[in-house]
Amino acid sequence: MSFIEVDKLRKVYRLGNEKVVALDSISLNIEKGEICCILGTSGSGKSTFLNMLAGLEKATKGTVKIAGKNITAMTEKQLAEFRQSNTGFIFQSYNLLPSMDAVENVAMPLMFKGVKPAIRNRKAEKMLKAVGLSERMHHRPTQMSGGQQQRVGIARALISKPPVVFADEPTGNLDTKTTAEVMEIVVKMCRKHNLTLILVTHDNDIAKYADRIVHIVDGKIESDYPNVSVVPPEPKELSDTEKILKNLEDTAKENENESN
Ligand SMILES: Nc1ncnc2c1ncn2[C@@H]1O[C@H](COP(=O)(O)OP(=O)(O)O)[C@@H](O)[C@H]1O
Ligand SMILES: [Mg+2]
Repeated sequence: MSFIEVDKLRKVYRLGNEKVVALDSISLNIEKGEICCILGTSGSGKSTFLNMLAGLEKATKGTVKIAGKNITAMTEKQLAEFRQSNTGFIFQSYNLLPSMDAVENVAMPLMFKGVKPAIRNRKAEKMLKAVGLSERMHHRPTQMSGGQQQRVGIARALISKPPVVFADEPTGNLDTKTTAEVMEIVVKMCRKHNLTLILVTHDNDIAKYADRIVHIVDGKIESDYPNVSVVPPEPKELSDTEKILKNLEDTAKENENESN
């Protein structure tokens, strides 16, 4: 069983007599901790796909399962609960609340969960530090640059370490240099906490941050391949205890092989 399982997902919009097939029988599996890029030109169905994965729109046909739960069969209330405890969103236009400062914006998801102000603000401050905004804790969105606002957006999306993070053109309003900074932060944080990131973009340069690139054309999967340009993580130095355990394991395996 994969962490996310999408089976023959189809979405048809009707506008009067016109029929728009936005998604045409998409099937794919995504593993826990995978950074998966959905790449396609404008109108190819990327946002529709993301909205369907998050249960924000009803599918015409097909199923989406996340962690074994059938999203497509949930009621609105179940979906709202599911999203609150399992997902985080990063938007192209940041969607920060203008009357709130950075800490308050980041703490919002915890407020909805009923976490006390002192605790949620402390966690929000920690998240803002992690995205490099220690000096901007009490700035409001209009007092920050686009890149800073998106870092607030990332901190807010990840504050409760949701297993699934959705990002729809997260750097669409940013310049090249800021795009690289924002992408590095979001990828680093998702990897650190083993969060699954579904990243939607039309930009080939963004796709290179992903482990895998799924190319969508006219609502269909055109190609789906691992991204070979991803730099593999450095092999971790084993602690003494880990070395001993590994030695024991290896010896046990050798013994087993000999006795066969
Ligand atoms: N609410 C809607 N009603 C009708 N057609 C829609 C709606 N949303 C999207 N579409 C159509 O579905 C197709 C895919 O749209 P979308 O998923 O937004 O593409 P992308 O995010 O890749 O730019 C487009 O042809 C778009 O016009
Ligand atoms: Mg879109």
